[in-house]
Amino acid sequence: MKLISFYSFKGGAGKTTALMGLCSALAFKQKKIALFESDQNRPLTRWKENAIRNDAWDQACEVFVADELPLMVDAYGQADLGGFDYGLVDAHGAPSHLNNCIIGSSDYLLVPTMLTPLDIDEALATCRYIIELLMAERLQAHTAILRMRVPIGRLTVSQRAAYDILDVLPLCDTPMHERDAYAAMKERGMLHMTVAKMADDPATRRMLHYSQRALDELAMIGAFIEKTLES
Ligand SMILES: Nc1ncnc2c1ncn2[C@@H]1O[C@H](COP(=O)(O)OP(=O)(O)O)[C@@H](O)[C@H]1O
Ligand SMILES: [Mg+2]
Repeated sequence: MKLISFYSFKGGAGKTTALMGLCSALAFKQKKIALFESDQNRPLTRWKENAIRNDAWDQACEVFVADELPLMVDAYGQADLGGFDYGLVDAHGAPSHLNNCIIGSSDYLLVPTMLTPLDIDEALATCRYIIELLMAERLQAHTAILRMRVPIGRLTVSQRAAYDILDVLPLCDTPMHERDAYAAMKERGMLHMTVAKMADDPATRRMLHYSQRALDELAMIGAFIEKTLES
């Protein structure tokens, strides 16, 4: 099982949304995904409940509550034995022993950021923390910034400046644009399942186009990550 962690010092950076999106993209490719919930607010447990209610939960995925180190170790062991292809970790907030262990055990670290100066400062601080920790422990893990909520249309001058700063850093090649389909995932469930349901229902067919584009974007991010992990 490959471990992919979503980490950022800043709340509201898009960690949970990026995780839900990547989970949908990988589950769409028939992968078995373990989701490790280390945020005590339990956004993933609620996501699963909402998704099941909407018939938009892929049974090949499971949520493991792992907000303390012994729970994380136990959950990781269970998932590894259970034949899951990927573990996705929603790591929350400030540095902690649990987060350090998550960083040290990850194959891929994704740092989501929006395009404001404050968000970028926090993303850079997060990356620096990750790199220093990995170097101190003599470990290696792929690390990339994932640009979140990038406007579909024209960027403002400050967003363009933010883009230029990020350009010299290790980046996921495709951003997650600002899309209603992403914001709605936490209520609706997994995006690939929502898209399949929309296609069957004449009333929602109009929304299908936008949701499908979101799913295509996620597929590109998923392919980028899988390719890096295979290399
Ligand atoms: N690409 C996106 N498009 C639209 N809304 C987004 C996007 N990324 C994040 N959001 C919204 O931003 C808010 C914060 O995102 P969230 O994933 O909860 O951040 P974090 O887990 O880092 O605290 C949520 O309301 C989420 O729906
Ligand atoms: Mg979150």
